[in-house]
Amino acid sequence: MKKDSLNSRRKFLQQIGATSFALGAAPFVSLALSEKAEERMLHYERRVAPNDKIRIGVIGYGVQGHFDLDTALKVPGVELAGICDLYNGRLENAKELHGKDLFTTVNYKELLDRKDIDAVLICTTDCWHARITIDALAKGKHVYCEKPMVFRLSEGHPVIAAAQKSGKVLQVGSQRVSSIGYAKARDLLAAGEIGSLNMVNAVYDRQSSIGAWEYTIPPDADALTTHWDTFIEATQKMAFDAKKFFWWRAFKEVGTGVAGDLFVHLLSGTHFITGSKGPESIYSTGQLSYWKDGRNMPDVMSGVMQYPDCKEHRAFQLTLQVNFISGTGGQEIIRLVGSEGVMEVRDNDIFVKHSLMPEAPGFGGYDSVFTFPKRMQQQLQQEYDARWTAAQRKAPRKEDVVFRVPDGYDEHLDHFTGFFDAVRTGKPVTEDAVFGFRAAGPALACNESYFNKKIMKWDPVAMR
Ligand SMILES: NC(=O)c1ccc[n+]([C@@H]2O[C@H](COP(=O)([O-])OP(=O)(O)OC[C@H]3O[C@@H](n4cnc5c(N)ncnc54)[C@H](O)[C@@H]3O)[C@@H](O)[C@H]2O)c1
Repeated sequence: MKKDSLNSRRKFLQQIGATSFALGAAPFVSLALSEKAEERMLHYERRVAPNDKIRIGVIGYGVQGHFDLDTALKVPGVELAGICDLYNGRLENAKELHGKDLFTTVNYKELLDRKDIDAVLICTTDCWHARITIDALAKGKHVYCEKPMVFRLSEGHPVIAAAQKSGKVLQVGSQRVSSIGYAKARDLLAAGEIGSLNMVNAVYDRQSSIGAWEYTIPPDADALTTHWDTFIEATQKMAFDAKKFFWWRAFKEVGTGVAGDLFVHLLSGTHFITGSKGPESIYSTGQLSYWKDGRNMPDVMSGVMQYPDCKEHRAFQLTLQVNFISGTGGQEIIRLVGSEGVMEVRDNDIFVKHSLMPEAPGFGGYDSVFTFPKRMQQQLQQEYDARWTAAQRKAPRKEDVVFRVPDGYDEHLDHFTGFFDAVRTGKPVTEDAVFGFRAAGPALACNESYFNKKIMKWDPVAMR
């Protein structure tokens, strides 16, 4: 092993250990995390035998396709074999970045036909996810598919069935579920750190044109350069519209709005931390406040979900909020509220504050007792004093817990490491098709609730 990488590994492990011990987190969790971190570092530094290489193809080489590919290539033994995209400019960009001999195509089936490709990353517009995933699995490819796993609720079960039938790995791309911060949150919740969970408030606010999905549209965009006729094969026939191709999230014909883009991340994170299979009722409301650029999806949206009492957790409520014109300047938080404290997840860092109730019930102060006759007040006071000691009247105190991941920590890389491990060893991934649909289903049901103005019933076990 090279000296540099040994040093970086030591440094990383020291950071992990120091962060969690010094800030008072439960030692057993810290130990587990250090072990996990060490295991991961060993993975990053592992030498891979030539016959253990994994060759990948990328389908959809837009913004996330670039991030996913760059991250995947950091995992030892992963090689790029080809890129597919519908917009010519992105195929040109692919050759600029990866060499003029790179195999590129506008027809994803040509990638799937290649024998030298083991796995594909599906990073297309949402409306293509299910179709390409099913085709890729049928061709014997392992699949990393971006979130939301599906575009329509009706596509969930066919994708799950295709994954099961193929025996290949399918991992969905909500990378936060592979974060050591989220693992910490899950362990703290299970250890009772905030008492019994009863509410989750999940927020994803932004205040910028890019945040509201108004990405730069290339000047040569037209029906030919974007292969528009192919693009709309997965949806309805429509005249070319550059916004529907490049700002697809904002249009219900091709995208899934804030629900499929962002609620799904909040749901994946919440399900991972709580171990939940999902809610049983879903309501959503929204409005178009500011980004009146032709879009037909709201830019301010909230969802309320009721999670049932079940073996994984007690009943709790989840509120989801996205505000694209938020004077907060933007914020992203998952806040888990329990009977004894609050746990906030910000990026990959975890902050726990406690508030415990005294054993004795309240008496006096803002209480009805002062409205009673004097003699009754005195008698009640005496009874209270005889029944409860001073200690029982005081709220117990508990130290805050702060867990910060080391600088430079990348959960996206962990998510890909898990994916390629599964490809190599057959061990399960964190976010398989069932997990993926348990997050995407309730998110998409928010759009149905919003458009149809009704409460949606969801069976979290059967996923219907
Ligand atoms: N995990 C995350 O944090 C995260 C972040 C951003 C986006 N995403 C997801 O990644 C996906 C892509 O998002 P983006 O921001 O990169 O969008 P984008 O518009 O930048 O890129 C999408 C690309 O897919 C291509 N495409 C569409 N249909 C295709 C087809 N049939 N065959 C080949 N290429 C096709 C388009 O030409 C385009 O270049 C979406 O599903 C999105 O939800 C995930």
